[in-house]
Amino acid sequence: MSSIVSLNDVHVHFGSSRAVDGVSVDVKPGEVLALVGESGSGKTTLIRAVQGLQTVTSGEIAYTASAEPVSEPDGGRGRGNRGVQMIFQDPTGALNPRQTIYEIVAEGLRIRKESQNEAERVGRALSRAGLRPPERFFPMYPHQISGGQRQRVVIAGAMVMEPDLLLADEPVASLDASIRGEILALMLELVEETGLSILVVTHDLGLAWNIADRVAVMYLGRIVELGPTEQILGEPRHPYTRALLSVVPETTRMEQQILIGEIPDSRRIPVGCRFHPRCPLLQSGTLAAEVASRCTTEDPGPVDMNADSAAACWAVT
Ligand SMILES: Nc1ncnc2c1ncn2[C@@H]1O[C@H](COP(=O)(O)OP(=O)(O)OP(=O)(O)O)[C@@H](O)[C@H]1O
Ligand code: SF4
Ligand SMILES: [Mg+2]
Repeated sequence: MSSIVSLNDVHVHFGSSRAVDGVSVDVKPGEVLALVGESGSGKTTLIRAVQGLQTVTSGEIAYTASAEPVSEPDGGRGRGNRGVQMIFQDPTGALNPRQTIYEIVAEGLRIRKESQNEAERVGRALSRAGLRPPERFFPMYPHQISGGQRQRVVIAGAMVMEPDLLLADEPVASLDASIRGEILALMLELVEETGLSILVVTHDLGLAWNIADRVAVMYLGRIVELGPTEQILGEPRHPYTRALLSVVPETTRMEQQILIGEIPDSRRIPVGCRFHPRCPLLQSGTLAAEVASRCTTEDPGPVDMNADSAAACWAVT
């Protein structure tokens, strides 16, 4: 199956800090891919690179024709790609308080000088985001609507560009628990109605469970496990994924594994398996000697993005 965007061995380094350190993955048409992992694992840096807001140190990000960045003096990347739109965590911070809802949603069209049928397109984007009738919202200001409605406006501002891929960084983390469900339901509705793909970053495995088709687990700049949601969350194979899941309350059947220490600094990525200093499986002493010695000396490498499911771990066969 062709993909909307395909990442091949993408690195993003900030000096000696390897924020993204060899990621290969693709997003397929109409799929929701969740990127999960602890703070500092490189999730935001990675999606900013996909959006074109962050320069890639090495590797390649290939877009399909319609998601291709348009050619502009800045490579079309200053404001991001037309076919790839991003929504941020905090809707309040993302909205200019002095602009009306209409102006906010129309902004992307105006920047691209796509003024034909502007009002109709803004209206359609607002309805699509569940703000109906849209005309009622046109003259309003962000402070006149609720937090949930503000996130819908942010989504409308992305949808007005008719993207193929929506990038969402913790899209509901700043919202009240009571309205998270509706925003997630809206995202799924958009996928169904428009065939859009979504790459969503989240700390919340429950969220991934509810909306993602596939999950990519990130640790220190790498995807360490990738596969269908039911499998990654139901039968995780990588010790890091198992530890992440064991602390989620709903998964009590798993023995709790509290990870020792914090995620290391991305300037000092451990040799061998990057997870080895914190790996409960290695620490358990149950691994065969030759596997354990590989853990501390040999990098298991990135997961195979073409496999149905894959884990970057010497103990997983
Ligand atoms: N502009 C920058 N300059 C230097 N280092 C950076 C920069 N942006 C990110 N980093 C580093 O890159 C690593 C990954 O950061 P990133 O923000 O991508 O992680 P994240 O997974 O999104 O974390 P969180 O869950 O907290 O949002 C961190 O070690 C961070 O300090
Ligand atoms: S390769 Fe070794 S250290 Fe790394 S996750 Fe697997 S068992 Fe743990
Ligand atoms: Mg982040």
